[in-house]
Amino acid sequence: MSTSPASLIPTPTTVTGIRFETSNVATYYIRLPTGSNLPKPGQFDMLYIHGVGEVPISVSDIDYKERVVAHTVRFVGSVTYTFTKLREGDVIGFRGPYGIGWPMELAVGKDIVIVAGGIGLPPLRPVIREVARNRGMYGRLIILYGARTPQDLIYSYEYKDYESIPNTELYLTVDTPTSEWKGNVGVVTNLIRVISVDPEKSIAFICGPEIMMKYAIKELLKRGFKMNKIFLSLERRMKCGVGLCGHCQMGPYFVCKHGPVFPLWFISKYFWVDQI
Ligand SMILES: Cc1cc2nc3c(=O)[nH]c(=O)nc-3n(C[C@H](O)[C@H](O)[C@H](O)COP(=O)(O)OP(=O)(O)OC[C@H]3O[C@@H](n4cnc5c(N)ncnc54)[C@H](O)[C@@H]3O)c2cc1C
Ligand code: FES
Repeated sequence: MSTSPASLIPTPTTVTGIRFETSNVATYYIRLPTGSNLPKPGQFDMLYIHGVGEVPISVSDIDYKERVVAHTVRFVGSVTYTFTKLREGDVIGFRGPYGIGWPMELAVGKDIVIVAGGIGLPPLRPVIREVARNRGMYGRLIILYGARTPQDLIYSYEYKDYESIPNTELYLTVDTPTSEWKGNVGVVTNLIRVISVDPEKSIAFICGPEIMMKYAIKELLKRGFKMNKIFLSLERRMKCGVGLCGHCQMGPYFVCKHGPVFPLWFISKYFWVDQI
């Protein structure tokens, strides 16, 4: 990845498809510009809407053959709301991939525990895909995913595919159930207490709202996970995305460059888990 001024200029690229996931979340598929590197699970791109602004969005799926990359966006503010106006064939600006992703090399031979909350699932979806593609390389895959309501659970159309990956368990939970909901109720971190897992043989990947990640860390530590086996993806306000502007600084680290995925031991001094 280059950090020359030229590399900060977005390259035009086409939106090849759009899929609405929930009332306020949609997935945008874009074709990677020629010369762009294929992303690794956990990396993010900077997406630019002409005349509006640029936002960091995680890669939520990768079609290696077609060089098409998915980004799942929740509409929260000025730039992300503009995504609702995009149509297939529209052109947006792209630069990336940026950051350090999930340490798949450390997960080889281990059981992987994924803990995701809300819009925290998209950066972890490429991990699920990677395990499915290279099933023999990893141990059990345990996916814990929670959302506010059943309607807020994203990618629900592919949960059966997750469950059909050999040696994989999927646990879903919602804060507020509907009358039809038959699954777990409560925060996703409760699920960490009930799963059967051997922390010595496992690695945990967490992404979601910061408060959820702090409780997830607490539960994982209680279950006997060591800090060097817990990885989390952090969000900070970003401008450059490449370690130049300092907007995303956390202690001595730039989340865009040294993260967004960090091992807990690396950042525990700046990510105050003991305050909760
Ligand atoms: C590395 C990284 C990866 C990310 N990946 C994704 C992703 O895959 N999908 C995705 O939807 N978002 C992702 N985000 C968050 C996304 O970048 C922000 O939601 C976006 O920048 C908000 O810009 P905006 O102009 O739409 O909102 P703004 O106009 O900047 O904000 C409007 C309002 O929304 C609030 N707000 C801003 N961001 C958030 C947020 N994340 N959650 C809740 N409220 C917020 C602000 O406090 C403000 O009140 C990621 C962020 C980082 C740093
Ligand atoms: S966004 Fe500029 S240093 Fe991270």
